Amino acid sequence: MIICRTKAEMREAVRGWKRAGETVGVVPTMGYLHEGHLGLVRMARQKAGRVVATIFVNPTQFGANEDLSTYPRDEARDLALLEAEGTDAVFLPSVEEMYGVGGDTFVEVPGLSAILQGALRPGHFRGVSTVVTKLFNIVTPDFAVFGEKDYQQLTLIRQMVRDLDMPLEIVPHKTVREADGLAMSSRNVRLTAAHRADAVQLSRSLSAAEELAKSAPAISVLEAAVRKSLAEAPSGKVESVDIRDAETLEELSGMLDRPAVVLLAVRFGTVLLIDQRVIAPA
Ligand code: PAJ
Repeated sequence: MIICRTKAEMREAVRGWKRAGETVGVVPTMGYLHEGHLGLVRMARQKAGRVVATIFVNPTQFGANEDLSTYPRDEARDLALLEAEGTDAVFLPSVEEMYGVGGDTFVEVPGLSAILQGALRPGHFRGVSTVVTKLFNIVTPDFAVFGEKDYQQLTLIRQMVRDLDMPLEIVPHKTVREADGLAMSSRNVRLTAAHRADAVQLSRSLSAAEELAKSAPAISVLEAAVRKSLAEAPSGKVESVDIRDAETLEELSGMLDRPAVVLLAVRFGTVLLIDQRVIAPA
């Protein structure tokens, strides 16, 4: 496994593979890897001759009140996990290498970056779309894998790639879950035992929505059912339940007449958990 800390090293490795006619897949991450990330790497491994993982805790997607310095890091463990999955190269740039001095150009998807999680985290998605563009330009992959777990991020990157004619395919990966249904996240270890027990209710409420969706109910009925189910986890504070068009994230009203995504954000103590599921009438 090649470890590239500079853009030049990364470009050099990919240049050789492309000359040999190999396809290249990339999995962008911020490190501290878990089974969710590794699922994306395995998918890339199946599809591509060469797999690149990137590990970069991107400062421009953190808000002023979100502590970048406490974001968990474990480079040695991440590298061992990636090596065991047969990753060909890891791109691990420093902040200086990535942004240099005086960087002042941004890529922005104004509509999608301003709603839902974007309304709560101003500047976050602008940081994501900019760093992902840079990673695509450095690695020049044939495809990139993103998790459905971060559904708004996936939707925004798809639109960016379409709008700017970026020459690669965006490949979605289903949310990887614990045995009881809890979506994998590096935040899960920070849950107390009582919170962890209640957190299972996020995926249960999504299953309830999925079941109810088959009869094409009113959106308001679906939302009420999700909230009722979440109330069975009394230690969780429901921050938001949104039911949106699965492709555009536009608001829906009336009856469920097309694929929709249910987006949840529930706080357990200081830990904010998100989850999602695409539902459709039968
Ligand atoms: P990070 O939070 O490290 O996530 C990296 C990728 O792993 C994302 O595509 C995310 O959706 C996916 N992922 C995380 N948990 C998952 C799970 N349980 N199941 C499936 N996929 C999961 O998302 C980012 O980093 C950053 O914003 C990034 C895109 C790297 C840009 O900085």
